[in-house]
Amino acid sequence: MYDKGKVIVGLVVFLGFATFPFYNNIGKKSAVPEPNLKTPVIEQMVVKKCIEPKEIMRGEHMQILNQWRDTVVREGERKKMTIGGVEIDTSLQKGCLHCHSNKKKFCDACHNYLSVKPYCWDCHFDPKERDV
Ligand code: HEC
Ligand code: HEC
Ligand code: HEC
Repeated sequence: MYDKGKVIVGLVVFLGFATFPFYNNIGKKSAVPEPNLKTPVIEQMVVKKCIEPKEIMRGEHMQILNQWRDTVVREGERKKMTIGGVEIDTSLQKGCLHCHSNKKKFCDACHNYLSVKPYCWDCHFDPKERDV
């Protein structure tokens, strides 16, 4: 009835095709984006640091932005803070994008790679790119 040999060969060939995209990507880690931190403000910072350590920022910047929005929009409170000698507001533009003014090479580099599309720019101003 069945030709066992052919079924196995067929399976091996199938698995080969099915997993090809996976094998083909091994060792291509270099494609991961390198967010560009170079902006005039960051270049001038006394201590080059973000509002939280880098590792926390990577994972939690969305929650921080939500908290900032809530304090401004719901509680009507605008806070100022000084980070590495730079005074900023709890604000998307006057905070994050004051330092990270190259949105395309910084924010978008990660988001495009991961297909994350924050809708913030429907309303918030997307600053002119300011590279060094
Ligand atoms: C005062 C300037 C300043 C402000 C304001 C600021 N950042 Fe940063 N940010 C930096 C610097 C400098 C680094 C690099 C820190 C390091 O290397 O330890 C950084 C790192 C990061 C990283 C990690 C990048 C990486 O390579 O993994 C993310 C994400 C980030 N910032 C997002 C934000 C967001 C979102 C905001 C606003 C909520 C913000 N930053 C506000 C200066 C700033
Ligand atoms: C190191 C890579 C990286 C950098 C740099 C980065 N982000 Fe993100 N961002 C992410 C990832 C990953 C997510 C998705 C997280 C998730 O879905 O849990 C995200 C999600 C977000 C979200 C939530 C979007 C949503 O639809 O839920 C906002 C808002 C955001 N980022 C703003 C910024 C801003 C503003 C900057 C630049 C100042 C920035 N990010 C820089 C990696 C990055
Ligand atoms: C429908 C329009 C709209 C969208 C979309 C929107 N915002 Fe806002 N946001 C506002 C308005 C209006 C204010 C109040 C502005 C003020 O009082 O200065 C505000 C205020 C803020 C503030 C505090 C003030 C400031 O200057 O930044 C933050 C932080 C913020 N939004 C973050 C976000 C983030 C992050 C996203 C995307 C995930 C987003 N917003 C999407 C309209 C919007």
